[in-house]
Amino acid sequence: MFTLIKQYHAARRGRFETVHGVIETPVFMNVGTAAAIKGALTALDLEEIGCQVELSNTYHLHLRPGDEVVRDMGGLHRFMNWHRPILTDSGGFQVFSLAKLRNIKEEGVYFSSHIDGRKIFMGPEESMQIQSNLGSTIAMAFDECIENPCEKEYARDSSMRTVRWLTRCKEELTRLNTLEDTINPHQMLFGINQGGTYDDLRIEQMQRIAELELDGYAIGGLAVGETTEEMYHVIETVEPYMPQNKPRYLMGVGTPVNILEAVERGIDFFDCVMPSRNARHGTIFTSQGIMNMWNVKYERDPAPLDVNCDCPTCRNFSRAYIRHLFKAKEMLAMRLAVIHNLYFYNHLMLQIREALDQDRFSSFKNSCVDILGRRI
Ligand code: GUN
Ligand code: ZN
Repeated sequence: MFTLIKQYHAARRGRFETVHGVIETPVFMNVGTAAAIKGALTALDLEEIGCQVELSNTYHLHLRPGDEVVRDMGGLHRFMNWHRPILTDSGGFQVFSLAKLRNIKEEGVYFSSHIDGRKIFMGPEESMQIQSNLGSTIAMAFDECIENPCEKEYARDSSMRTVRWLTRCKEELTRLNTLEDTINPHQMLFGINQGGTYDDLRIEQMQRIAELELDGYAIGGLAVGETTEEMYHVIETVEPYMPQNKPRYLMGVGTPVNILEAVERGIDFFDCVMPSRNARHGTIFTSQGIMNMWNVKYERDPAPLDVNCDCPTCRNFSRAYIRHLFKAKEMLAMRLAVIHNLYFYNHLMLQIREALDQDRFSSFKNSCVDILGRRI
C-alpha cells in the first residue's frame, strides 16, 4: 500500500508498504543486475550504505544461473542474502539493448543470448514466470523500449503492443501468485508507460494502463537518445495522468540533478547504473561537485573523498590512498569508490525526503542543482 505523507506542488513524500518491509520515498534503487553489485559489494554492504531497494534483472538471471536455480535456492532474497525489497526489471529493456538477432512478434520476442548465442523466446508470460521464480517484491511488466527518435507510426504500434502485453502480464502474475509453491505470493506488478517523445501517444498509453489498477507505474523509454529537456517534458506531460495513490518510477535515470528535477515533477522511484559505473572509472559524486580521482592534484591529498560524507570509505580512507589504488589497478579502488557513490545517492534521497518533510524542498533543490552539476 502506498501512502502520501506530504505534497509540495507535484513533488511527493510517500511510504510504500511491501511484504519485505517499508520503502520511504522518494527512493533510489541500487542496481545489482545479476544479483551482484558491481565493484564487489555484497548485500551486507548495501545495508550499511542505507540502500532500501535492490534491483535485479530478469534477462540476466534467466540466462545465468537460470531462474529455476534461484527458485530452488529459495528465491533471490535468500540467494543473495538481501532481505529488504527487490525490484526485478522485466527483460523488456535488456532484450532490446543486449540480445542479438531479435524478432518482435505479437506473442513476444525471439532473440539470441548475448552470452552463448542460444535462441530464446520471451513474452509477457515468460517474463512473469521468471520473475515469479525469482520471488522479487515488485515485478516489472514486459515492455518494448524504443530508441529516440522513433517514427511516430512505429512508436504508436509499439506502445499499444506494450499495453496488450501488460494485460497478459497481469493475468499471468495473478495466476502465478495463487500457485501453492510460489516463492512470493504477494508479488506486485508495475506497468510501464511508453510512447517515445510523442505527447499524445504517451498520454493515451498512460490512460489505458492506469485503468488496470496496478501496484505502481513507471515511465520507460527515457534516457535513450532524447535531450534532457525532452525527458523533463515527457515527465510533465504524463504525470497528470498517473494515478495519485500509486508510486511512480522513472526507469534508468539519472544524474543527481536529473533526480532532483524529476522529484519536483512528481516521481517517487529511481534507478541508475551511473553511481556505480562512474565510481568504477574513478568519477566521484561529492557535496561540492563531481571529481576525477585520476587527477594528479589528489596525489598527496589526505582528505576523504567528500568531507561531508559519513560513508565507510570517507570515514577511513584518503583521496591519496584511493588515487593510488586506481593507478595500481587494485580491485579495492572500485569497491571503495562504489561504496561512496552509492552512499552519496542514498543520502541525497534521504536529504530530499527530509526537505519534503520540512516543507523546504524548493530551496534545497535550488541550492543543490548549482553545486552537484559542477566539476571540481
Ligand atoms: N530501464 C530503463 N528504461 C527502461 C524501459 O523503458 N523499460 C524497461 N523494462 N526497463 C528500462
Ligand atoms: Zn563517502
